[in-house]
Amino acid sequence: MNPSRSPRHFWLWFDPRSKHLGALGFIMNRVAGIGLTFYLFLHLLALGQLALGPKAYDHFIALVHHPLFLAGEYLVVIGGMLHGLNGLRVAFTSLGKGAAYQKPLFYGLMSLALGVILYFGIRMLGGG
Ligand code: HEM
Repeated sequence: MNPSRSPRHFWLWFDPRSKHLGALGFIMNRVAGIGLTFYLFLHLLALGQLALGPKAYDHFIALVHHPLFLAGEYLVVIGGMLHGLNGLRVAFTSLGKGAAYQKPLFYGLMSLALGVILYFGIRMLGGG
C-alpha cells in the first residue's frame, strides 16, 4: 500500500506533536473551514423552513432557542473568527504582503480572535 494512504498516515494528520506553527495554523484553518461549510448547509436547511408557512416559522424560532442550537452558534463564532482572521493572514502572505511578519501576525490575529471569542462566549452563554 502507498504509505501516504495507510491508516497510520491518516491519524498522524491529527497529531499536534512535532508540528510547526504554520502546520498547526493550516490544520486549524482546514478544520474550521470544513466546519463552516457544514454549517452553511445546515443554515440553508433551517432557513428553508421559513418558506413552509407561519407554523413552520414558529417551530423554527422555538428550535433556535434550544441550548444545543446556541452552543452550535457559538461554534460558528469560534470557527468564523479563527478561519476568517487566519484566512486574512494566509491571503496577505500568499500575495507577498507581510510574509516576514507572519508569525507575529498569526499570534496577534489569534489573540484578537480569542478576545472576540471570549466576548461572545460571555454575551451568548453567560446567561445575562
Ligand atoms: C473572512 C472570511 C474568510 C476568509 C478571509 C477565508 C480565507 C480562506 C483562505 C485564505 C483559505 C485557503 C487556506 C490555505 O490555502 O491554506 C480558505 C480555505 C477554505 N475556506 Fe475560507 N475564508 C473565509 C470564510 C469562509 C467561509 C464562510 C467558509 C465556509 C462556509 C470557508 C470555507 C473554507 C474551506 C472549506 C477552505 C478549504 C480548507 C482547506 O482545504 O484547507 N471560508 N479560506
